[in-house]
Amino acid sequence: MDNVAKLKIDGKTCSLPIVVGSEGERGIDISTLRQATGCITLDEGYGNTGACRSDITFIDGEKGILRYRGIPIEALAEKSSFIETAFLLIYGHLPNHKELRRFSDLLTQNEMLHEDLKFHFEGFPAHAHPMAILSAMINATSCFVPGVLDAYDPEAFESQAARLLAKVRTIAAFAYRKSRGLPIMYPKPVFKYTANFLHMMFSEPYQEYDLKPEVVRALDLIFLLHADHEQNCSTATVRMIASSQANIFACAAGGVCALWGPLHGGANQAVIEMLESIHREGDDGSKFIAAAKDKKSGKRLMGFGHRVYKNYDPRAKIIKAQCDKVLESLNISDPLLDIAKRLEEAALRDSYFIERKLYPNVDFYSGIIMRAIGIPLEMFTVIFAIGRMPGWIANYKEVMDAPHGRISRPRQIYTGHTERPYQPMSERGQE
Ligand code: CMC
Repeated sequence: MDNVAKLKIDGKTCSLPIVVGSEGERGIDISTLRQATGCITLDEGYGNTGACRSDITFIDGEKGILRYRGIPIEALAEKSSFIETAFLLIYGHLPNHKELRRFSDLLTQNEMLHEDLKFHFEGFPAHAHPMAILSAMINATSCFVPGVLDAYDPEAFESQAARLLAKVRTIAAFAYRKSRGLPIMYPKPVFKYTANFLHMMFSEPYQEYDLKPEVVRALDLIFLLHADHEQNCSTATVRMIASSQANIFACAAGGVCALWGPLHGGANQAVIEMLESIHREGDDGSKFIAAAKDKKSGKRLMGFGHRVYKNYDPRAKIIKAQCDKVLESLNISDPLLDIAKRLEEAALRDSYFIERKLYPNVDFYSGIIMRAIGIPLEMFTVIFAIGRMPGWIANYKEVMDAPHGRISRPRQIYTGHTERPYQPMSERGQE
């Protein structure tokens, strides 16, 4: 196979090296292109652009493969926990007993918020979306972390990363309690990560939440399945911010904002809203499928399609199986699950979806599990953000540890006016 690509422009041939990844992926290194030819590349939406080299996560979208640090997602889903997987992503290997205990202890030591931060929650209106609160409060937390604005220090990274990972679920739970006018529940050191989150969400001062093992496991699995997904919109945002040497909290707050949109993490909320509207209208799903195929309708089948997967998203397979299990063990029959399954079957038989290789993604069934365990709709994307935090932290670390890192600064093809004179106000017309 060639290890050089040749590009002919204006009669001149330019040689560009081909970089090969550990799974055989090939990329043309164009870092000398502009210097050699005066041209840049244009790839709106970055569908063909590798923005970095990364050791963290591998996806083969054609085959439906996802691996964190080389380990298949199916194996992690079956055998690991969210916190063990977080360690794997951030530090590159599965922890031994001692490492896992130290990591868990660090998370426990950092689970509380500074008392003064509680007052910040008072400033948000009751109807504020928890993603707005989450992003703002992650940034605000940085003000309480000594040395966070100093130059990146690998020694300080461990404690800063643990603070972020530990506190994000405390902030998320506080935001929910505030939105409902409920008293804040402090974390309890006896509980592990996910159980503690459920406790802070649902316990009352007069009554402890009943932590059912199947519910804790289901939510832990949702966190784990969301933990990283290579260069998606929010992770690319985190890396972009990190490239300017901003601190880890600023990067994570930016990641939360990027995740919020309905085409990204916000899709889990949008899926349930879609299923509810189908249910309300008594549609068997066929009207919605027809609308999703009609570009003029402005509708899409939410939870379907993916930029990288042109096959069944492996996370969706695991979540779908978990969905059946959780609903059965909690003895819940949710009409939205039946609608979702009917929609999936219909879409997978439909030539529109087949030709475009549109399959269910991670968001298609996750919301049904979250509904079953009592997570309110507006918190769905927050759950995604808590889950994605280890991936953002791992990517932040990778950027900061890179020996010759450069600030990310894409170019553009300018399509606006060419030079024109400044027009005085008197010559600009009346309207
Ligand atoms: N329903 C109907 N048509 C679709 C859908 C959909 N969900 N997704 C893609 N298409 C069509 C699209 O209209 C286009 O058709 P045509 O070739 O005729 O113009 C074709 O499929 C290719 O779509 P695209 O928009 O070029 O694909 P993309 O890679 O830019 O977008 C996506 C990927 C995930 C944003 C998109 O599939 C989508 O909007 N899906 C629904 C939202 C969703 O579920 N997002 C969660 C993604 S997974 C988790 C995460 O990343 O957060």
